[in-house]
Amino acid sequence: MASMRRRPDCCLFIILTCLVVPLIFSVHASLLGDTLTVGQVMKDWDFLESSNKRFRLLFFSPESFNLRYLGIQFMNGTDWINGIDQGNMVWVANRGKPLRGTLNISHDGNLMLTDYNGTFITINAEEQPVPSNDTSATLLDTGNLVLRAGKQTVWQSFDYPSDTWLPGMKLGLFKSSRGQPQHRFLTSQVSPQVPTLGAFTLGVDPNNTKQLVIWQRGVLYWRSGMWNGYNFSYFPNGYDEFNFSYFSNESQSYFTFTRTDNDFPSWIDIDSSGDIRVFKTEDNGWSLDTYYCYDSQGLEYSNNLGCVAPNPSNCTAGDVFIKKSGSINSWVTTNNVSQGISDCKEICRQDCACTAYASALSDGSGCRFFYGEYSDSPEYIFYIRNISTANIGNPCIFYLFIYFSI
Ligand SMILES: *[C@@H]1O[C@H](CO)[C@@H](O)[C@H](O)[C@H]1NC(C)=O
Ligand SMILES: *[C@@H]1O[C@H](CO)[C@@H](O)[C@H](O)[C@H]1NC(C)=O
Ligand SMILES: *[C@@H]1O[C@H](CO)[C@@H](O)[C@H](O)[C@H]1NC(C)=O
Ligand SMILES: *[C@@H]1O[C@H](CO)[C@@H](O)[C@H](O)[C@H]1NC(C)=O
Ligand SMILES: *[C@@H]1O[C@H](CO)[C@@H](O)[C@H](O)[C@H]1NC(C)=O
Ligand SMILES: *[C@@H]1O[C@H](CO)[C@@H](O)[C@H](O)[C@H]1NC(C)=O
Ligand SMILES: *[C@@H]1O[C@H](CO)[C@@H](O)[C@H](O)[C@H]1NC(C)=O
Ligand SMILES: *[C@@H]1O[C@H](CO)[C@@H](O)[C@H](O)[C@H]1NC(C)=O
Ligand SMILES: *[C@@H]1O[C@H](CO)[C@@H](O)[C@H](O)[C@H]1NC(C)=O
Ligand SMILES: *[C@@H]1O[C@H](CO)[C@@H](O)[C@H](O)[C@H]1NC(C)=O
Ligand SMILES: *[C@@H]1O[C@H](CO)[C@@H](O)[C@H](O)[C@H]1NC(C)=O
Repeated sequence: MASMRRRPDCCLFIILTCLVVPLIFSVHASLLGDTLTVGQVMKDWDFLESSNKRFRLLFFSPESFNLRYLGIQFMNGTDWINGIDQGNMVWVANRGKPLRGTLNISHDGNLMLTDYNGTFITINAEEQPVPSNDTSATLLDTGNLVLRAGKQTVWQSFDYPSDTWLPGMKLGLFKSSRGQPQHRFLTSQVSPQVPTLGAFTLGVDPNNTKQLVIWQRGVLYWRSGMWNGYNFSYFPNGYDEFNFSYFSNESQSYFTFTRTDNDFPSWIDIDSSGDIRVFKTEDNGWSLDTYYCYDSQGLEYSNNLGCVAPNPSNCTAGDVFIKKSGSINSWVTTNNVSQGISDCKEICRQDCACTAYASALSDGSGCRFFYGEYSDSPEYIFYIRNISTANIGNPCIFYLFIYFSI
């Protein structure tokens, strides 16, 4: 009995060793410092690390996905914090355009992602590079990636937010002397796994009412309530640690915030369900507070947090959906992977014939709909082989194959 019980532990040990050894090796082999210069190429497991070691610029792939995104990840020392979805990614360069390739600075001063198949993405596409033989990209301690030509800043990631508002980042309206007016806002992901631009945006009310606003596909979803010089009516009550401020002149109006105690990193983000999440590190760990209009079941509508009631569908069955697990056989699937579960809900809610909705894919993207009358069907009973008692071959061989093929 005892020897049988020991075997899985042994397998686990082998697997962990196989995973950890190449990772440690690659980590030490690939550190480029905090700056990429002309001629350097960042690839595969290479990364830039801010000098305070809080942020890394690296390639990542969402689970079970072989294409990669370039992102900035929040790190704690050399570790990331488990238990937060989206892997602590605070910025993603190529949302909706994953690839397998490298990052470098071209001879004409552009920060480029080059796919191994030859296609490329210019990360600073909105800002023309300045001719210079001294162009570099540096990941600052604040989590801001800055492209500089000599001493002049050409482009910075803080001006092109993803779904995360870091201290020092400005959300608002900017008139640039060169280009188009820019509205800087956060855009949620399609799902926790898919960084493609999702349904919710968080920005500043363009009507100049000095408040933060969330739109769902352009429809007003939430308001922070008016800024009174110290705080907002509905958000984030009781955060003494956050110091928000508002700035406005002829060419720009924006909100920004700092953490009163700079030693503790924090941020605000908007998740794929439209919830606002406030992340704070503290003396003894971290906390994550969520502000939402619907609860996790999608049942309750809360009107006291600035949430805006959606237009009712007028369907006789009502607009409330209940989360269930079970099986429905005759789904109608749509293949638009730019849609997330909140889009599926809106489509179903407004179609009175629709009785249920779900994600089409396991990564939370796409929609499927059910139009029939749902009845709880008896669950199948099935028998599954207990693979943890099986004699697993040498897992190292399998793992190393994956490692070297990347
Ligand atoms: C950047 O990468 C591309 C594609 O890999 C390559 O063609 C180009 O020469 C590189 N530029 C520099 C300055 O290294
Ligand atoms: C290159 O690969 C990307 C995905 O990695 C794909 O979107 C793109 O169409 C490919 N381009 C060519 C020319 O094959
Ligand atoms: C870069 O340009 C400056 C000014 O044109 C010049 O003085 C310097 O030698 C150049 N450096 C290199 C490495 O080419
Ligand atoms: C701004 O004004 C427009 C037009 O009056 C209105 O439709 C919109 O809802 C307003 N935005 C907010 C956030 O109140
Ligand atoms: C907002 O700030 C005012 C003035 O400092 C204070 O009296 C009030 O309690 C604050 N409200 C909230 C919800 O934090
Ligand atoms: C809050 O931020 C404002 C503007 O940046 C600054 O003037 C003020 O001193 C800050 N207050 C605290 C308590 O940090
Ligand atoms: C507005 O303020 C910004 C930041 O202080 C400044 O760079 C800009 O010149 C100002 N614009 C005008 C029109 O005053
Ligand atoms: C960061 O790491 C330190 C030391 O391992 C730990 O005490 C602290 O709780 C961690 N902070 C977070 C936010 O995980
Ligand atoms: C539901 O009815 C109200 C009141 O008649 C109407 O204003 C609204 O547009 C209707 N909603 C839809 C989705 O048809
Ligand atoms: C897919 O969904 C997005 C988001 O709702 C929408 O903007 C786009 O037009 C859709 N594409 C197609 C082909 O329907
Ligand atoms: C599956 O096998 C493992 C290892 O022998 C054992 O610990 C576990 O109890 C088994 N599961 C069941 C449901 O029998």
